[in-house]
Amino acid sequence: MESSNSRQAQGKKLTPSMISNYLDQYVVGQDDAKKTLSVAVYAHYRKLGRQRQDDVEVVKSNILLIGPTGTGKTLLCETLSRIARVPFVTANATSLAQSKYVNEEIEALLLRLLDKAEGDIAKAQHGIVFIDEIDKLKAAEGEQRGTSGEQVQHALLKIMEGASVRLGAQTFDTTHVLFICAGAFVGLENITAKNQAYGFISVGAGEDQHILDRLNTRVKPTDLFKFGLIPEFAGRLPVIANLHNLSKEQLVRIMIEPRNSIYNQFREMLKDEGVELDIEHAVFQQIAEMAFEYKVGARSLRGIFEEIFMPVLY
Ligand SMILES: Nc1ncnc2c1ncn2[C@@H]1O[C@H](COP(=O)(O)OP(=O)(O)OP(=O)(O)O)[C@@H](O)[C@H]1O
Ligand SMILES: [Mg+2]
Repeated sequence: MESSNSRQAQGKKLTPSMISNYLDQYVVGQDDAKKTLSVAVYAHYRKLGRQRQDDVEVVKSNILLIGPTGTGKTLLCETLSRIARVPFVTANATSLAQSKYVNEEIEALLLRLLDKAEGDIAKAQHGIVFIDEIDKLKAAEGEQRGTSGEQVQHALLKIMEGASVRLGAQTFDTTHVLFICAGAFVGLENITAKNQAYGFISVGAGEDQHILDRLNTRVKPTDLFKFGLIPEFAGRLPVIANLHNLSKEQLVRIMIEPRNSIYNQFREMLKDEGVELDIEHAVFQQIAEMAFEYKVGARSLRGIFEEIFMPVLY
């Protein structure tokens, strides 16, 4: 799906704020992650132009998105892929870990980049690879199914380190491919808090608490090792952006505001039937209240919404 907005944007120079504005149309809140992604994609895109003239070597900064389930990690990257002006492909770490042929899967990923670049190898080599559910690659205790997560980390490490991969007759240099990884990292907050609360624990209450919370939620590479990522792998993801739990107000906005919001979808559906749907704000607040209790971010909104309105629609 390509919106008229993203098509409009094609002609203009892409700026971080343009990317961020585009993300705003589909993703509610998560401003930190939006900013980080916008700047990174902008810088990456700029580099494509420069590298082609054999200009300065710029170090890329792969990104790790961390945040609770259902708060918009996958949505952000899917939305980003529609506006990024470089080839963009997505992989899922869970399925990579279940595959017997992980190296082949990774080659297939690069082939897809080449495909998106319509065969232009230089363009493909400056593409973006989004790897979702990266936390599922943590070293598993005992269990062995398919390729273990750790082996997948090693396999991915190769292309993240900039190895050249042979694809048929061509050689794919991965030096300038940008990697964006995302995961919920359940339990990481305990590791982070335990490691960092140390020297700060005796600080008094009140406004210091705010500073304390910020410090305590900063994820360090060592926390990622403890969680189960191998050090080299965590070290290849220098930029960490946190997504936050969604507030009830944000849950309400999610049902109403995005271009393809649940409300808009139902309105559209009923308009085809000649019915004008108009839902009171209090109803959305109630749904948000329920969804909030489920603690799966925005994920439960649609289910609750449909449960309430299906009988009416029927
Ligand atoms: N910030 C948000 N703005 C708008 N919609 C959202 C937001 N967060 C979640 N949603 C809605 O909830 C659904 C699930 O979100 P998403 O798949 O992005 O979660 P996630 O963070 O990737 O979770 P998980 O860790 O479980 O994969 C999305 O399809 C979207 O409809
Ligand atoms: Mg996801």
